[in-house]
Amino acid sequence: MKIVLLGAPGAGKGTQAKLLIDKFSIPQISTGDILRKAVSEGTPLGKEAKSYMDKGELVPDSVVIGLVKERLGQDDCKKGYILDGFPRNTSQAETLDNVLSEINLPLDVALSVDVDFGILMKRLTGRRTCKGCNQMYNVHFTPPSKEGSCDKCGGELYQRDDDREETIKKRLDVYKAQTEPLIAYYQKKGILKSVEGVGEINEIFERICSLL
Ligand code: AP5
Ligand code: MG
Repeated sequence: MKIVLLGAPGAGKGTQAKLLIDKFSIPQISTGDILRKAVSEGTPLGKEAKSYMDKGELVPDSVVIGLVKERLGQDDCKKGYILDGFPRNTSQAETLDNVLSEINLPLDVALSVDVDFGILMKRLTGRRTCKGCNQMYNVHFTPPSKEGSCDKCGGELYQRDDDREETIKKRLDVYKAQTEPLIAYYQKKGILKSVEGVGEINEIFERICSLL
């Protein structure tokens, strides 16, 4: 299965990707996760990306496209992949089409997870992620049993730097202006599927599975 996950910040792309990995045994390629890892390691890529991410803006295409191209070329993507957070604008989508046709791994589906904007702020300000295993929690909706500590591995939970209210507003604006048009882009190609992203996490996953 070769999937692009579309959806606003906080729509649940990462949450649903983690469930899809297990179901289809395919890797998740999250440009946000790759960039955050580079930032935490202080690599040149991380240093360049950080200023954009902290402002809630997109990192330049020239940086992100190279990362995805390299990742898609790895062996584990041959049986499928879940692109989470990429593409983010029309130029990235067009480049992706070219790359995928070069390596003969065309998309099966672009899955849009639709959530009303009013809910997203609470989801994002409440998000906590495990430093050890990346498991996600939400202090409002799915809190860990012990505050600040991961149920799965006992790792420390952290809050993303860009999950501050002002930055979230900017990310939502950027999504509206640059990423939302991709819904029409994939609809035109005949591979768009949309799922209602409000409800229990497992319930949404079941909706996705029946769509796929
Ligand atoms: P990225 O990491 O991609 O962030 P994003 O698109 O803003 O999306 P999020 O990860 O915030 O949301 P999500 O949909 O994954 O939601 P999640 O599952 O975590 O990008 C970050 C930055 O990196 C960008 O701003 C940009 O600077 C840069 N970047 C990345 N890719 C780029 C690209 N291609 N080009 C240029 N720049 C790029 O869920 C959110 C919370 O809600 C969690 O707490 C979760 O537990 C909770 N939750 C999920 N589902 C439910 C539910 N059903 N009910 C209740 N709570 C739920
Ligand atoms: Mg995410």
